[in-house]
Amino acid sequence: MSGSEWTCRLSSMHEWESPYYEPSLPVSEKSNPLTRDIDRASSGCIVRMLQACDSQMFLEEAGATYQRLMSDGVVETLMEVAKKVELILKDPRDSLVVLSGCGTSGRLAFLVTSAFNRALKELNQSPVYSYIIAGGDKALFSSQEAPEDDPKLGMLSLKEACEGKKRVLFIGISCGLSAPFVAGQLDLCLQNPQVYTPVLVGFNPTHQARDEPIPGCSFTFRSVVQRMEGLAKSQKAFLINPAVGPEAISGSSRMKGGSATKILLEVVLSAAHAAAFTHTPITQQGILQHMRAYEKTLEIPCAHNEGMSALLEAAGKSLQRGRRVCYLGWGSLGVLGLVDASECVPTFGADYEDVRGFISGGYNELKNNEGPLGPDFRISHEDFLHLVLPSLDDHDMVLLIYTQTDDVSDVEKLARRVREKTSNLHAVYHRVDGDTAATVQQDDINKLCLSSLRITWPSPASGLLQMQWELCTKLFLNALSTGAHVLKGKIYQNHMMDLQVTNSKLYCRATRLLQKLSGCPESKCEEALLKAVYKVDNLTVEITSSDISTHTHTARTRTKVVPLALVCLLTGCSLAEAELRLEQQPIVRDAVEACLS
Ligand code: F6P
Repeated sequence: MSGSEWTCRLSSMHEWESPYYEPSLPVSEKSNPLTRDIDRASSGCIVRMLQACDSQMFLEEAGATYQRLMSDGVVETLMEVAKKVELILKDPRDSLVVLSGCGTSGRLAFLVTSAFNRALKELNQSPVYSYIIAGGDKALFSSQEAPEDDPKLGMLSLKEACEGKKRVLFIGISCGLSAPFVAGQLDLCLQNPQVYTPVLVGFNPTHQARDEPIPGCSFTFRSVVQRMEGLAKSQKAFLINPAVGPEAISGSSRMKGGSATKILLEVVLSAAHAAAFTHTPITQQGILQHMRAYEKTLEIPCAHNEGMSALLEAAGKSLQRGRRVCYLGWGSLGVLGLVDASECVPTFGADYEDVRGFISGGYNELKNNEGPLGPDFRISHEDFLHLVLPSLDDHDMVLLIYTQTDDVSDVEKLARRVREKTSNLHAVYHRVDGDTAATVQQDDINKLCLSSLRITWPSPASGLLQMQWELCTKLFLNALSTGAHVLKGKIYQNHMMDLQVTNSKLYCRATRLLQKLSGCPESKCEEALLKAVYKVDNLTVEITSSDISTHTHTARTRTKVVPLALVCLLTGCSLAEAELRLEQQPIVRDAVEACLS
């Protein structure tokens, strides 16, 4: 893409806000005009497109249709919620702050509660934060989409987490204001106001909250939101829902949705901690200052574009050859590696082995609710050494992710072990300007690596630094895994074609995508989808009379259902023929284009 084309692209920064742009879709499901042809872009261009999308998180509000991260209303609500947290921190008896969500939202709930409970421990205070993730701890590192549809499970898990508590601040996260699991929890809070104060974090305006009936419930997500809006005036409920623009890959809320969730939660909890433990009042200025530090963090990846595209290229090559990408991380950056890797399975239909994360110390470092999760979830560096390293060669990419505060000699030791098997070793690490500790070891590690992204942060280190390192690493890893899968041909335009249809949101998204790409009416697209799910050319009454949960349950074991349905729709061929076509042309993007032409 030429410079002028790119300038022109940037002028479409706000296009998604027009009332005429994909009007039937909420912001979180719209396609981003900036990435319309990301599937044809070079690695350098992919990196720039993803950065431009991320920068939409901090767009100014002036003249905008939707409120933003730093809009007055949002900042005010953040201050109010921080004050509620402060009260609990000052008198934690029988109290709890619960963070809950599905998929990435639950993973970030885990990451943030871990960090702030750790901060409390350092102050000799007992923990007050607790996380819930739909599907339990295995959902931290694998896709568990079905529980997202279950509001009763949400309620039960919240009740269980809060047993015996007299005061609970509940923060439910649903980027799309859509997950029934979270709607159920918010409803429980609204029914028991003497104990629970509900807070909702998401990235759509309230009128775009999902309004589909939830089986077995009298409420929808939207009706819960409307009840909360009523109570917000008297501060009995809180809504934090700025718009951050459509995702780079449509609907992939692990990206901006996840980053903005992390920003908002950390801003609130940091302000509350500062107020409770260092007598720093919660002010609008303080909140904005913290936000601006994150805004600055977004500039860091831009300064490393070249290194970033080289990494993306290397990861893309490994995946194209059917080989692996492994992240070896330390501390909370290691958690981000685990999370990013595990999200590739549901997001790109990747194999579990394609991108894997490992963390120094394994479950001892993690301290998750359920402890070690068994042989299907091996996450330590020792597991990597035993199970993965022996089969690696130069076609497999390994990425070290660490900071200068980690055990750098351990990083070096591991780097040497990896280097014996593959020269395709890279590093991303953070250091503070002027800090000379372990410089020799860091230089040695660099020599072992094919490329190193050394990110130097201004000194002196502030309390925010670890959170900025995390955000920056999240942006890097999201860009790396997304870009590598784009290069592998997994994306069509800016849509993930091969999505798993394992819950109602994904079922609706799949039907919509088929409509958009085939131009066929909704009913025909749903029919084609069901044929692919049930592997039949003719639908039976039993199939058509079943509910969505039966369809999504059946789809758990199916692969390539959306590409199959699309080929059938575009060519009118049978499922068997569509399967053959996709076998001959495994790059989904090319198969679809062949049908279209
Ligand atoms: O169902 C899959 C998924 O889209 C995940 O990718 C995502 O992290 C999760 O749902 C939660 O979505 P939300 O935060 O919008 O409820």
